[in-house]
Amino acid sequence: MRIRLATSEDVPGIAAIYNHEILHGVATFDTVPWDDDAAHEWFGKHQDPRRPATVAIDDGGAVLGWGSLSEWSSRCAYARAAEDSFYVHPDHRGRGIGRAIMADLIGRAGAQGIAVLLARIETSCAASLRVHREFGFESIGTMRRVGEKFGRVLDVELMQRSLEDA
Ligand SMILES: CC(C)(COP(=O)(O)OP(=O)(O)OC[C@H]1O[C@@H](n2cnc3c(N)ncnc32)[C@H](O)[C@@H]1OP(=O)(O)O)[C@@H](O)C(=O)NCCC(=O)NCCS
Repeated sequence: MRIRLATSEDVPGIAAIYNHEILHGVATFDTVPWDDDAAHEWFGKHQDPRRPATVAIDDGGAVLGWGSLSEWSSRCAYARAAEDSFYVHPDHRGRGIGRAIMADLIGRAGAQGIAVLLARIETSCAASLRVHREFGFESIGTMRRVGEKFGRVLDVELMQRSLEDA
């Protein structure tokens, strides 16, 4: 397994992992699966080194998981902050791929001078909470009952890690 920047050839594999979570999970609050246009639109927004999309691939080039940094807000004064995302194929979770994606994203963020990483994590997503805590993210609040999916009302943990002291 290795991590690298995503290419357009990876987009179907990225979308398949994300669409599974859209349809079956609460880690994303998207509810409509990506079609090809939506997936490539997302990819187009991640061509900036400050907003990368990365993939974990196996020896055959299959996408096992992916990560990204996104703008926290389009308001310019927020440019020093970015929001992370990472998703691993359900068949490959619990093998360290998520941690490897997160370590790579943090390295890329630091190299680009990003000062703060933020994450919004639905509070039942234990693996994501665990990985973020392991990488030094701290909870800075819980947004209560802000989401609803599959008939469940959902809370979201807001987590933050400073990169300025790294
Ligand atoms: C979160 C996610 C990306 C982590 O990827 P991963 O490859 O499974 O992560 P890793 O194997 O590196 O580490 C996960 C850790 O969480 C642990 N974990 C998994 N499920 C857990 C649970 N329900 N409760 C507590 N810990 C859990 C794993 O055991 C592992 O720790 P360990 O190695 O000490 O045993 C992946 O699980 C995933 O795609 N989940 C669904 C989508 C998601 O939540 N994305 C994050 C959006 S913010």
